[in-house]
Amino acid sequence: MTDNNLSGKNVVIIGGTAGIGLATAIAASEMGANVWAAGRSETNIEKAKALSDGKFEVRQADTHNANQLHDIFKEAGTIDHLVSAAIGGERTLKPFVEQSEEQFQAAYGKLWGYAKVVREGYSYVSDDGAITLVSGSPARKISPSTSALSCVGGAVENMVRCLAVELTPIRVNVVSPGTISTAMFDHFGDEKEEKLKAATQGHLIKRAGTAEEVAEGLIFVMNNRFVTGTTVEIDGGRILS
Ligand SMILES: NC(=O)c1ccc[n+]([C@@H]2O[C@H](COP(=O)([O-])OP(=O)(O)OC[C@H]3O[C@@H](n4cnc5c(N)ncnc54)[C@H](OP(=O)(O)O)[C@@H]3O)[C@@H](O)[C@H]2O)c1
Repeated sequence: MTDNNLSGKNVVIIGGTAGIGLATAIAASEMGANVWAAGRSETNIEKAKALSDGKFEVRQADTHNANQLHDIFKEAGTIDHLVSAAIGGERTLKPFVEQSEEQFQAAYGKLWGYAKVVREGYSYVSDDGAITLVSGSPARKISPSTSALSCVGGAVENMVRCLAVELTPIRVNVVSPGTISTAMFDHFGDEKEEKLKAATQGHLIKRAGTAEEVAEGLIFVMNNRFVTGTTVEIDGGRILS
């Protein structure tokens, strides 16, 4: 049986006020961790506060704002687990040659945000602690119109391998979700579930995943003290389909 190494640990989750980050905040808190979850918008902050039921802290921070990040890191003191599950950039979905240079670059906001979270945060992370980021299946599953997401996801995964080597003994890992039913797809409105169902029919597991299923992957790499430099795929077999 896996030990619960999260009890009493300080866990900071940037991009933790909705979706995968919020599910991870709830799971870590239920395992006895002291959790700080952060995001930008008041709407998500208020929703996360309501769901936290006072059991974890919810703060405002943008992955691109060093001062906001430091305020949370200082409040947490020593961080055992630094997580970023923020989207942090544009989700540019277009054929490569139809994208402007600005659109392609805007997708990299996710990488720059994660880089800032790590750069500003690593010195607060304890030697037996860990940093965990979130990439996405387009990093390895190539489909038309996803070149920007694919390049950014691949860059996040490679950055994680570099950081695992350079920051050891701090462990650094990345979780790669497939198609997950979160607010990321709310722009589909009433058609959201129908669109997700259609999008996943060719996958080995023919449905969208849940934020809680991806959170289990994050909790695994945080909890297991022998895992570093790894990409854990929680994607219903999407990259094999
Ligand atoms: N859902 C999927 O199918 C899927 C697939 C592949 C990869 N992913 C990746 O999984 C991660 C989580 O996505 P999700 O589906 O859980 O999305 P989500 O439900 O929209 O949640 C995203 C969270 O990140 C916060 N956030 C976004 N930009 C931020 C920024 N610049 N600084 C701080 N917080 C920020 C959001 O709050 P605010 O907007 O209020 O800041 C929210 O708390 C992302 O990296 C995404 O690219 C998701």
